[in-house]
Amino acid sequence: MAVRHFLTLNDLTPAELEAVIKRAIELKKMNQEGAVFEPFKNRVMGMIFEKSSTRTRVSFESGMAQFGGHAIFLSPRDTQLGRGEPIEDSARVLSRMVDIIMIRTFEHEKIERFAAYSNVPVINALTDDYHPCQLLADIQTYVEHRGSIKGKVVAWIGDGNNMCNSYINAAAQFDFKLQIACPKGFEPMQSLVAANADRVTVVSDPETALKDANLVVTDVWASMGQEEEQQERINAFQNYQISPERMSLAAPDALFMHCLPAHRGEEVSEDMLDHSSSVVWDEAENRLHAQKALMEFLLQHS
Ligand code: CP
Ligand code: NVA
Repeated sequence: MAVRHFLTLNDLTPAELEAVIKRAIELKKMNQEGAVFEPFKNRVMGMIFEKSSTRTRVSFESGMAQFGGHAIFLSPRDTQLGRGEPIEDSARVLSRMVDIIMIRTFEHEKIERFAAYSNVPVINALTDDYHPCQLLADIQTYVEHRGSIKGKVVAWIGDGNNMCNSYINAAAQFDFKLQIACPKGFEPMQSLVAANADRVTVVSDPETALKDANLVVTDVWASMGQEEEQQERINAFQNYQISPERMSLAAPDALFMHCLPAHRGEEVSEDMLDHSSSVVWDEAENRLHAQKALMEFLLQHS
């Protein structure tokens, strides 16, 4: 069987993604009921983090522990990767020792190269271009609160970043309409927008993008690696904050999501995360359940 990776949402078919979401909801229920389910006894996950993380690290590590397996946290500070050992060599060595690998890094091309040389599944735990694991949790959360996202309208307000690019992939894979609003010069990947022009629009005005939206999503204005642009970005994004007033422009039953961490007073008003439309804490928790379903899928299909 060929090894299956999860570098973007396009690595799984729409039917496979649907099955992963369904399974995530089942695994969550099992967890809540206190069921012990350990299909990965003696299995090991390697976790390479070249950027900071709270949710991603804890959800993968807890998920692997709950499955009866083990996870090894690898930082470039104390592995040979940080001293220049080639990606290709690291991939060949690590994949002889562990059963599955997740990577959080900068250039997307790096994870593609790693996957090309890995004998075990590789999961994208965030690159500069994509954050597909977060989308699994977001879709699971939408389904739990409102049912299928098929045919719905999603508004992305803010930076055309890794999350926004993954929302474009999600629009195609889960069949919804995506209305993006971002300042000029901060648009998502042009080739992705062009390839999905039938369901994705990009405007600069948040009000237009919020119209009829069933789900409103935003993210930080300066992502990891863009710390030096922080002030310039705060200036450019002034008109892109999501607040309860702004939410009232969306559909009456609209949900609000944010992958977190959030900056209150910047992309969200002080009170937004606690607004009645906000499901950000469920969204964060679902990282655990969605990724357990993903790991199970990849190990069963590789
Ligand atoms: N949303 C998310 O990926 O959070 P972390 O950076 O804390 O992992
Ligand atoms: N866009 C953010 C997401 C963090 C989870 C970043 O890349 O820093």
